[in-house]
Amino acid sequence: MAEVSTGQPLAMYRSGPDAPVPLVLLHGFPLDALMWEDVVTLLPDVPVITMDAPGFGDSPSYEDVAVAVGAPGEPGLEGYADAVVATLRAAGVGRAVVVGLSMGGYAALAIAERHPAVVAGIGLLDTKASADDDAARANRHRVARAAAGELGSRAVAPMVNGLLGVTSRAERLALVAEVQGLLEAAPVPGIVWAQEAMARRPDRLGVLATLHVPGLVLRGAEDTLSTQGDVESMARALPDSELVVVPVAGHMTALENPEPVAEALRRLRERALP
Ligand code: MLT
Repeated sequence: MAEVSTGQPLAMYRSGPDAPVPLVLLHGFPLDALMWEDVVTLLPDVPVITMDAPGFGDSPSYEDVAVAVGAPGEPGLEGYADAVVATLRAAGVGRAVVVGLSMGGYAALAIAERHPAVVAGIGLLDTKASADDDAARANRHRVARAAAGELGSRAVAPMVNGLLGVTSRAERLALVAEVQGLLEAAPVPGIVWAQEAMARRPDRLGVLATLHVPGLVLRGAEDTLSTQGDVESMARALPDSELVVVPVAGHMTALENPEPVAEALRRLRERALP
């Protein structure tokens, strides 16, 4: 298990009752903890913690976070995983149901690998356990360079088509505008760190077989970034999992159709309670 120093390296937000085994919700790229607002509103009776990833929202840059958890060096999801656990420990939380959407799912898998004792349950939403292929990795380096250069956050503007499902893009123009606004406001240091960190992540499918805790695997029916094959392989690898396909949603299920997401998370936590 990785060493984690105490302190509160990441910005953290709590809602619901002060009860054991909270849900910890980790957001997708390049958004921040506010992405979970609709889901959290639907769970007023459930203890929920959300956090901003390094360089996003109110969290410090990855460089500062990595120093705080004693993991300076190459940008990686491992330092983020250690920072989530350090932030939980500083808040007195020893065990939690760790849930991540897309990039948050990659971080949840890194937490499961490095800190299994913290994980009372795992939720993998619109994500995958496999590593990038060479083309995806090259694209991430290209986006990181473009964001660090003249384009700034405009480098991620084309992502709107991948994030939202075909129905949202055709029929929910206010949501499209909201996501476009979030992409325009995405912080450059966060974009650069996250692209480099995601490019480096290894395949973690094998981690799932070692997790003897309740699991949830979920994707939007219209998600083109996490395929049905991706989620089925994760569900098969987990010893105890529920597989949920959310209708009328693409990659951003938590924004596009929050009700079934909230209900699936409620069930997951109930299964994880001692
Ligand atoms: C996300 O939504 O977090 C991204 O699509 C993750 C990725 O780029 O793989």
